[in-house]
Amino acid sequence: MDNEIPILQGRHIVVGVTGGIAAYKAADLTSQLVKAGANVDVVMTPAAAEFVRPLTFQALTHRPVALDMFSLLQETEIGHVSLGKRAELMIIAPATANTLAKLAHGMADNMLTTTALACRGPILLVPAMESGMWDNPATLANMDVLQQRGYHAVGPESGRLASGATGTGRMAEPETILDAARWVLGRGGPLSGMAVVVTAGGTREAIDPVRFVGNHSSGKMGFALAFAARDRGADVTLIHGTTSLSGPYGAKIVAVESAEQMQAAVLDSIPGAAGLVMAAAVADYRPTSAAEHKIKKQAEDMCLELTRTPDILATVAGQRARSGHPTVAIGFAAETQDVLENARAKIARKGLDLIVANDVSAADSGFGVDTNRVTIIDAAGRAESLPLMSKAAVAETIIDRLAEILRRP
Ligand code: CTP
Repeated sequence: MDNEIPILQGRHIVVGVTGGIAAYKAADLTSQLVKAGANVDVVMTPAAAEFVRPLTFQALTHRPVALDMFSLLQETEIGHVSLGKRAELMIIAPATANTLAKLAHGMADNMLTTTALACRGPILLVPAMESGMWDNPATLANMDVLQQRGYHAVGPESGRLASGATGTGRMAEPETILDAARWVLGRGGPLSGMAVVVTAGGTREAIDPVRFVGNHSSGKMGFALAFAARDRGADVTLIHGTTSLSGPYGAKIVAVESAEQMQAAVLDSIPGAAGLVMAAAVADYRPTSAAEHKIKKQAEDMCLELTRTPDILATVAGQRARSGHPTVAIGFAAETQDVLENARAKIARKGLDLIVANDVSAADSGFGVDTNRVTIIDAAGRAESLPLMSKAAVAETIIDRLAEILRRP
């Protein structure tokens, strides 16, 4: 299936729904989790069932919804203890002020709070309430207690609330919650405790205040790499050029424009990093001087003088050779001809651990599309050709190779 997400596939996730107006968004979250391949059980409070019928969740998950504490049939099938034991993650969305208060005090007065108390896996809280309730010192103190006990939280966000007022209290969007769930599940993964720097997108080199020299890179490959590294527990810094994509929850996101700014951001993040994956399409040349004001049209042709930009990857790999810095360096070779020969020359010239070669002139593996067909070449020259895959699946493989290199003694 297209929407499957490896970190969520086959994982037992309990979605706990409490009685807030945002309960309808929990249906969308549940649907997205199921599509991603998770095994989802829904547990609702009686108040939640006033907002959305349990049948909605049952239809989405194809499993019974846990609602009644005292149904013997349900107790044997999906009782709170077995649900709690089985849960690799419990997401409480929306989490009302009332439920937060109960959880902070260890109360177990309904199926949801009881399941949370019995839950062995991590719990992700998604608070949603009126801003006055959120700002109340009692709610803030309850959140403090819960976070100190290891509960994770995403949101609430600011915006329009059910009352019509604007303030903090909106439930995070289902996409954000799903992304935060991936981050929680990734903790303890093969890259946990390791910093990984990923670059993405194209740089823009200013000609004047309104024009630039740029390229077609969409950033999709680099963003997919950042998601894959984050899903394996890495502390990701994603440094990207201009793009409309959203980075992974939990990552440090740095937006840059020019090659020079990208180099400064990479050099700033690289000390201590376990890996650098340079998927960005960095301009090799920039206008020698950017005009301060818009350049006016001239009667004749005009010439643009260009100056070489720094090679970021070669700089980092070079520093590593001199300082013994252990950062694993992975580059991309975007080519339109002699793909493998050019890539092999680049891995040697830049002193890299891996290079990912792709033919950007092919319609299904070029700029802007969601698929890619790449060959991964290692420092010994061994080539691994991958079939046409989604950029997300290519990213998973590349980050697996990074993890393998890092595992080597
Ligand atoms: N790269 C870099 N800094 C640059 C140019 C490229 O770090 N100034 C990185 C890219 O992010 C990529 C790798 O180097 O990972 C190869 O980029 P590519 O543009 O394919 O190669 P170049 O070294 O620029 O060589 P050429 O343009 O001649 O193919």
